Formats: sequence, structure tokens, C-alpha cells
Amino acid sequence: MKHKIAPSLLAADFLHLQKEVEMINNSEADWLHMDIMDGVFVPNISFGFPVLDAVKPILKKPMDVHLMIVEPQKFVKEVAAAGAYMMNVHYEACTHLHRTIGAIKEAGMKAAVTLNPHSPISLLEDIIQDLDMVLLMSVNPGFGGQRFIEHSVNKTARLKEMIRERGLDTLIEVDGGVNLETGKRLLEAGADVLVAGSFVFSSPDPIQTIKELKEM
Ligand code: DX5
Ligand code: ZN
Repeated sequence: MKHKIAPSLLAADFLHLQKEVEMINNSEADWLHMDIMDGVFVPNISFGFPVLDAVKPILKKPMDVHLMIVEPQKFVKEVAAAGAYMMNVHYEACTHLHRTIGAIKEAGMKAAVTLNPHSPISLLEDIIQDLDMVLLMSVNPGFGGQRFIEHSVNKTARLKEMIRERGLDTLIEVDGGVNLETGKRLLEAGADVLVAGSFVFSSPDPIQTIKELKEM
């Protein structure tokens, strides 16, 4: 399977959101990644449901929603109503993760668990069989434009092995500091989906940059 590219809207020009979404529609991007931050789970606040609702009717690609919030289980219904295809919740934010994953699927979405850079993949041993995707953070969540954490390449390879050993088809998505150089190494390590924020949106030609990320 060819890898997927999910540009992160966090790095877009919010004054011209419609233009940015149209650019995504016209590009080879597979998904649009949406970063929701609450200022509690992460030291930053981004955007919430009004932005998802505004984007939904014009977006022609699946929405990949990454919740960097405490108690994400409270918002399963709202995320589904906003049109999300994939709902990512942080392992570190969920006390009853198994129940939350069940609720996400019941609401008709794909379910993914996100791991912070310090969280080992061994935490997933008893939940991975229920997941559609694992999202590995390759920066500490909260901000776009941060430096890629090298260890993520090795972590991706070990997660791939864990998935293979169990005969699963769980996708691996990696988020943070992705560009053509780090992206290539992540793909070699077994990543299936790459999120790219600043690398895409600060490029002079985002459509071409997405194409290059697809052709890696
Ligand atoms: C970080 C977010 C990322 C971010 C990636 O907290 O989860 O999705 O937008 O941005 P870049 O690609 O600039 O590191
Ligand atoms: Zn993200």
C-alpha cells in the first residue's frame, strides 16, 4: 500500500481557511489532519468544533482528528458529528481507554491511540488488536514547527514489528517535524501515514510539496 499524507491544518493561514481547504482538495493529500488543543493536556490552545464544522462541508478528504485534550471520551459524539473519519485520543489522557475505543467505533469512526514521545509502545500490548491506527508523536505535542525527535524512527520500526508479529493491519501514523528527509526514514521504518504541518503550509508551493511527500 502506498503511504498516505495528512497535512496538518494547524499550520494553515486561518484568515483564508477556505482557500487552504481548497488547496488540500486539489492536492494529492489523502487526509486532512486537525489538531485540537485544550491548554490543559498540552501547553497551547488551537481550535475546536466551530472550525471543524466550518471545514466539513467543503472538505473532500477524510478528516483525521487529533485530540490533545484531557477527557477526550466526553467528545466522541461531537467529533463524529463534525464529520471525522479517524478519531485519535492520547493514551496519556484516557483512564478507560478500552471503553473509549469502543465508543469511537460505535459512533462510526475509525479509532486511533496516540503516544507521546516518552510513552513506550509496550503500553499498547493489550489494546493494539482493537485499533485501526497508532499515532506516534515525533515531537512533544502542543506546537507546530518543532524539531523531529530522532528516536521516533526506531520506535516506528519496533511498532511495525509488534503489528507484524500479531498479524494485524493496524496503520502507523507519525506526527511532528516531518519533511522529505525525516519522512523518508519513517517510511523505511514502516510508517503508513505521515502528518506534515509547517513543511507543507510554509512551502511556496504546497501542492507540489504534498506531491513530493507522496512520491518519496
Ligand atoms: C503537534 C501537532 C502536529 C503539528 C505538526 O502538537 O499534533 O500535528 O501540527 O506540525 P509540524 O509538521 O510543523 O511539526
Ligand atoms: Zn497532530
